[in-house]
Amino acid sequence: MRSLLRCEIDETRYVALLSNLLMIYSALEPALDRNAAHPVLSRIAHPAIRRAAALRADLSALKGGDWRESDAIVSATVAYAKRIEAIDLACPQLLLAHAYVRYLGDLSGGQVLKRVVSSNPMLKTPVPVAFYDFGDATTTASLAKTFRTGLASVVLSPLDEDAVVAEAKLAFELHITLFNEL
Ligand code: HEM
Repeated sequence: MRSLLRCEIDETRYVALLSNLLMIYSALEPALDRNAAHPVLSRIAHPAIRRAAALRADLSALKGGDWRESDAIVSATVAYAKRIEAIDLACPQLLLAHAYVRYLGDLSGGQVLKRVVSSNPMLKTPVPVAFYDFGDATTTASLAKTFRTGLASVVLSPLDEDAVVAEAKLAFELHITLFNEL
């Protein structure tokens, strides 16, 4: 992330980042779809925040037709996707943690990254940034607000709350491993 902020990321590494994020969203978003009626997950189900399609658009813009979703995937991402598949089956409400870490991150710091990536001299302009694009600032802020309101309306037992917080910490740790591998 520091290299990204310092515009030290070239196209190969940018493509690798987007490819690995695509694998994470390709596990997360169908799991959220399957659980759209779940009493907890229905609170944060907003199609407008989904990212997989935007990531595919950016990868196609960067690589034309010459890319496969399996390109440049690191082991941390495989482990991350496996974790999402496991909780989807065993305890779907824990998906809330992964939706929080990804979507609220994209709707927050992601807007800073969008500006930084767009002006990165190591990347061909215009740099595809559909992944970071949720619309204008007002729309982006309202999506973030809606997500936070949904999150705040979730009712869980203290034990389940602790499990969701622990899962969010795990999600951050998985990202640290992913970024170190990248
Ligand atoms: C260099 C990269 C990053 C920058 C500059 C950045 C910056 C920010 C900023 C400014 C906020 C808003 C804080 C607020 O509203 O009080 C934020 C929130 C957040 N970021 Fe990051 N961020 C970065 C990377 C990440 C990454 C890699 C993740 C997850 C993998 C992430 C997840 C989050 C989450 C979940 C929030 C919402 C926190 C909350 O209000 O509960 N961020 N980030």
